[in-house]
Amino acid sequence: MAKLRLAVMISGSGTNLQALIDACADPDYPAEIHVVISNRPEAKGIQRAEKAGIDTVIIDHKAYDDREAFEEALHTCLKDHRVQLVCLAGFMRILGADFVNRWRDRMINIHPSLLPSYKGLHTHARAIEDGVRFAGCTIHFVRPEMDNGPILMQTAVPIASDETEESLAAKILPYEHQMYPAAVRLIADSKARISGGKVVFNDTDMGAKGLISPVI
Ligand code: GRF
Repeated sequence: MAKLRLAVMISGSGTNLQALIDACADPDYPAEIHVVISNRPEAKGIQRAEKAGIDTVIIDHKAYDDREAFEEALHTCLKDHRVQLVCLAGFMRILGADFVNRWRDRMINIHPSLLPSYKGLHTHARAIEDGVRFAGCTIHFVRPEMDNGPILMQTAVPIASDETEESLAAKILPYEHQMYPAAVRLIADSKARISGGKVVFNDTDMGAKGLISPVI
């Protein structure tokens, strides 16, 4: 079977990109990265892609007159690489509705909270401040409203009594790295599809165990 053709779009360190690169190194993995796009020339993730021999393209939003022109350049690059699924991984630009709709159901994002709670920035600090018992991360299909769209996969992580923003981020990030390759695999294997605005699964174990915190 032909592998699903991926693009990964980043702005920063690219640890989630690295998780995808590592997964794609397995010959049995059903997807491969054809291009890594960064809107920031200095993004560390670019070096990760270069090291893995993947095409990298810098599309710096500052070099374009407006968002439409920037997004047209993104779209052209994705088309040129015959991309089938766009993976946003720490891509820190808000994408307009036209672009998002052109990639509807073919673009996913990772967000460091249990959506629909804590959209936007500083998710971990806000969860600690509110005193909720669980934080986490979510992979979802992208819709024009920020951090919105059908949810594909989530990890819930308990928040400790002495939790800090940094400790919580350090606790959650490894789960992001586990989830992203698994989420892409679900799509590549046609086990997850969108129906009625939600993701539905076939032949997939959803788990049954609850998580209680504090432990009793
Ligand atoms: C991750 O926490 C991700 O959830 C968020 O941005 C961060 C990206 O980290 N969207 P990295 O660039 O993959 O290391």
